[in-house]
Amino acid sequence: MTRLIVISNRVSPPDGEGKSNQGGLAVALSSALRETNGIWFGWSGNEIDEFTGQINLSRADGVTTATIDLEAQDVEEYYNGFANRTLWPLFHDRTDLAEFERGFAGGYARVNDRFAETLLPLIAPDDDIWVHDYHLIPLGRELRQRGVRNRTAFFLHTPWPVLRLLIALPSHRQLVETLFAYDLIGFQCQTWLDSFLHYVREQFPEAVVDEQGTIAIDGRQVRVIACPIGIDAQEFKASAASAEAEEARRALLGTLDGRKLIMGVDRLDYSKGLEQRFNGYERLLLDHPDYQEGVSLLQIAPPSREDVVSYQDIRKQLEALSGHINGEFATAFWVPLRYVNRGYDRTSLAGMYRAASVGLVTPLRDGMNLVAKEYVAAQDPADPGVLVLSRFAGAAEQMAAALLVNPFSPEELSDALGQALRMPLEERKARWHALMESVERQDVRWWLRRFLDALHGKAIEPVMMPAASPPNGGDRGAESRPAPAARFVAQND
Ligand code: ADP
Ligand code: F6P
Repeated sequence: MTRLIVISNRVSPPDGEGKSNQGGLAVALSSALRETNGIWFGWSGNEIDEFTGQINLSRADGVTTATIDLEAQDVEEYYNGFANRTLWPLFHDRTDLAEFERGFAGGYARVNDRFAETLLPLIAPDDDIWVHDYHLIPLGRELRQRGVRNRTAFFLHTPWPVLRLLIALPSHRQLVETLFAYDLIGFQCQTWLDSFLHYVREQFPEAVVDEQGTIAIDGRQVRVIACPIGIDAQEFKASAASAEAEEARRALLGTLDGRKLIMGVDRLDYSKGLEQRFNGYERLLLDHPDYQEGVSLLQIAPPSREDVVSYQDIRKQLEALSGHINGEFATAFWVPLRYVNRGYDRTSLAGMYRAASVGLVTPLRDGMNLVAKEYVAAQDPADPGVLVLSRFAGAAEQMAAALLVNPFSPEELSDALGQALRMPLEERKARWHALMESVERQDVRWWLRRFLDALHGKAIEPVMMPAASPPNGGDRGAESRPAPAARFVAQND
C-alpha cells in the first residue's frame, strides 16, 4: 500500500494518553494509521519562544509521528484565533461568535506556510498526502507552490456552512480557492457536500461540476465526495463487553437506585447544544412529574479550548443552569443532573454508555459526531438503550433509526426523552439492529478504504442511505422483527 502522510493540527500517538485523545479526529486517526504504516505530522501542542522548524520524530505501534513546536503568537493567532474564533463558529452557524481579525488570518497563513516548509523534506515522490480539518485548509496549495506533485487530499471534519453564512468571512473566496489545489476533498455527509458545491457554483461560475462531483477549474480536476467517518466498532463493542467496562457499568448503576440513566458525552463546546439539552431535560421533569425521582441525567463534558472566551462563557452558563435545575428539582435522595467536567478512559466510557437507557446526542451542528456511534456500539444486544440524536449532526444521515430531534426545541427533546424512556424492548432492539448494522459496516476502516480508493481514482460505493420513510418518523409497530435500516429515513435538512 502507498505510504500515507497524514497532517492534522493535533497529533496523538495510538493509545496515547491525554486530552488530545478526546477529539473525534484523533480517535479515528489512531485506528486508521495503524493500518497504513504512515507518518502523522502536526503540532506537538507545545509552545516555544522562536519557531525553529525542528521535527520531533517518534515511532510507536507502526506509526511514525513527526511534530513541530509553535510560537506563542502562532498558537494565539492560528489555533485560538483563526481556527477557533473565526472558522469554528462560522462553520457551526455561529456567526454571532465569529471574530474577524486580520491578525488571525495572518497567523493562520503563517502557520500553514510553516507546516508546508517543515513537512516538505519528509515527502517522497510516491507518498499520498492527506490533510485534515479546518486548521489546515491552505496547506495543499502551500505544498503545490513548493513543487509537490503527489496525490493530495483534504478531509473536513466539521460541517461546511451555507453560502449566506460563509460569505461573512472577509477572505472567503481566497480561502476556498486554496482548496482547488487538492485532488480530492471529502466531507462528512451529503448536506455539507451540497453546501460546498452550492458555494462553488455561485462564487466560481467558471467552474464546471460534472455528475460524479468532479470540479474542473483552472485546468485542474478536483473530486469531491461525502465520506462519513466511522469508529472502530469491533474494538469498541469488545471493550464494552469487557470485565473492566462491566465494572464501570455496575459502579454507575449502583449509584442510581434503579433509576433510568440518560447520558451525554461531549467536549464542552457551544456547538454541542448542552444548554438546550439541559432545558429539554428540565422540560421533561416539568411536563412529566412522574419522571421526577425516576430518571437521572449524566452529562460528561471535559473542558475544551479554554483560552477562548466563548468557551469560558458556555462553561459558566452550564454551571449556572445545572445548579438551577438541581436547585429546582433535587431532593435529599435524588440529584436529577450530574454535570461532570472530566474525561474518562475509553473502556470506562464504554461501560458507562452501556449503563445508559438513553444516549442523548443533541449538537446544534456537528460535522459527524462519533459519540452517537460509540453509544450504539457499546449497547447490550439483549437490552439496548435508545439513541436520541440531533437532526443537525452529520451522523443523522446514516442513523435514521435513532429518535431524531430538533435540538433547539425543549418540547421535542422532552417528547423524545419520554418516548425513549418508555420504548418497549422489541422496538429498542429493532432500532438498535438497524443502527448497529451501519455502525459496524461503515466503520473507520471502511471510511479509510473508501477515501483512499477515491484518491486513487477508483469508483466508490455510495453511502447506503435508508430508502423509504416510515410514518411518524419511526416504525412503532415493528416490535417483533429486526428493522432493516431502509425503514428509517434521515430528515437532516
Ligand atoms: P468532536 O470531534 O467535536 O470532539 P465527536 O463526538 O466526533 O466530537 O468525538 C468526540 C470523541 O471524544 C469521542 O470519541 C468521545 O468518546 C471522546 N470523548 C468525548 N468526551 C470524552 C470524555 N469525557 N472522556 C473520554 N472521551 C471523551
Ligand atoms: O472534530 C473536530 C475537532 O476540531 C478535531 O479537529 C479535534 O481533534 C477535536 O475537534 C478536538 O478539538 P481540539 O483539538 O481543538 O481540542
